[in-house]
Amino acid sequence: MIRLLIVDDISSTRDNLQKLLSFEEDIEVAGTASDGREGLEAAHRLQPDIVLTDVNMPVMDGIELTETLASELPTSPVIIMSVQGERDYLRRAMQAGAREFLIKPFSHDELVAAIRRVYQLEQKKGTFLAKTNPPQPDGMAGPRSGAPGEVILVFSGKGGVGKTLIATNLAVALSEQTGGRIALVDLDLQFGDIGVMFNLDHSRSITELVDGSSGIDEESLREVLALGPAGVRVLLAPISPELADLVTAEHVRAIIAELRRAFDFVVVDSSSHLTEFNLEVIELAQRVLVVTALTIPAIKDAKLTLKVLESLSVDTESTMLVVNRVDGYADFNQESIEQSLRVPVAIQIPHDPRSIGDAITRGVPFVTAHPEAEASRAVRELVSRIVPEGAGVAAAPEPADRKRRKGLFGR
Ligand SMILES: Nc1ncnc2c1ncn2[C@@H]1O[C@H](COP(=O)(O)OP(=O)(O)OP(=O)(O)O)[C@@H](O)[C@H]1O
Ligand SMILES: [Mg+2]
Repeated sequence: MIRLLIVDDISSTRDNLQKLLSFEEDIEVAGTASDGREGLEAAHRLQPDIVLTDVNMPVMDGIELTETLASELPTSPVIIMSVQGERDYLRRAMQAGAREFLIKPFSHDELVAAIRRVYQLEQKKGTFLAKTNPPQPDGMAGPRSGAPGEVILVFSGKGGVGKTLIATNLAVALSEQTGGRIALVDLDLQFGDIGVMFNLDHSRSITELVDGSSGIDEESLREVLALGPAGVRVLLAPISPELADLVTAEHVRAIIAELRRAFDFVVVDSSSHLTEFNLEVIELAQRVLVVTALTIPAIKDAKLTLKVLESLSVDTESTMLVVNRVDGYADFNQESIEQSLRVPVAIQIPHDPRSIGDAITRGVPFVTAHPEAEASRAVRELVSRIVPEGAGVAAAPEPADRKRRKGLFGR
């Protein structure tokens, strides 16, 4: 049973919501409140699974309520309801820690889906925190949650916008922040760069998995996965471009299915083309991060990419727009990108040649080499969007041994 607290200053809205939800067998309205202050008191008293709150309210508004709950009662995640045009509010609510937004007027189905989604994510987080299933040395003991892992594809229409950088650092940050099991797959089959980014020994790669000598099963996977920073297991791209064609979409389907059984998250780096192969990969993903930069060509390509995703019926809620290399000189700001692409910007990663360049040269992720950098903070925020409240709450694995990993040019 999902126990819900409704906070809204208009009594007819509260009544309507209650009526709407009375048909759902798995949702129970545990209480209602008419402003943020009352809502806060009720939340402490009732300890609801979810707080559904309006934004504009007297005494204490929905944003302040969300902020306060995030620090005082993190076990009660918040869904914000607002009207169209309150974009600024939405941004503040997101920063305050709201998990979901409903734009009024919303349908019964949207409401129920949002409640169930937030509840399920919360459950998943709970299982991350449970220490019942400590990591095995080979990292292949199965996802902690028991459910199949989530595939996060990092994609862009334009090359060189930062996909590999984001995929590698996201995988490391996911591992550090959730304590879950993370796999990273390099599906930029011709020119995969993950091996270089992490300074990994390239003796084993996806080629060994698909050469037909052994099937694609848990054991063969375990043998080819390289050990990256923060315990991330890495499936490297073929060592040279002519081997790329050996890997088919069927292979990838089998590999991803096997990885989902063993890992909580499977982060996939990709090449920048809308090939048949990539379209198949897109369909395997539960979440697609569309990476773009602040240039006209990159934004044009992001627009085309989003259109293709839409035509593939990829759920818009599972698409996240990541803007990379943000600096003060571009002609675009968040607002103009959102207007042009009609998708909210999930995260902006600053242009930071100093920290990021240094980390790449040393063959280490910038999130661990320069945790204080703004770019690292952005990646951590991206993780907490993907796994709400995951940030810094789970037992982190042993820190990566930085000394051992000599940089690419550090010899
Ligand atoms: N935020 C940033 N700040 C500074 N430099 C960056 C940033 N993002 C990317 N770069 C630079 O751009 C280069 C390209 O990034 P990356 O390899 O991640 O792009 P990509 O999208 O994977 O490219 P490709 O399409 O070729 O695979 C990096 O090596 C780095 O030098
Ligand atoms: Mg790349």
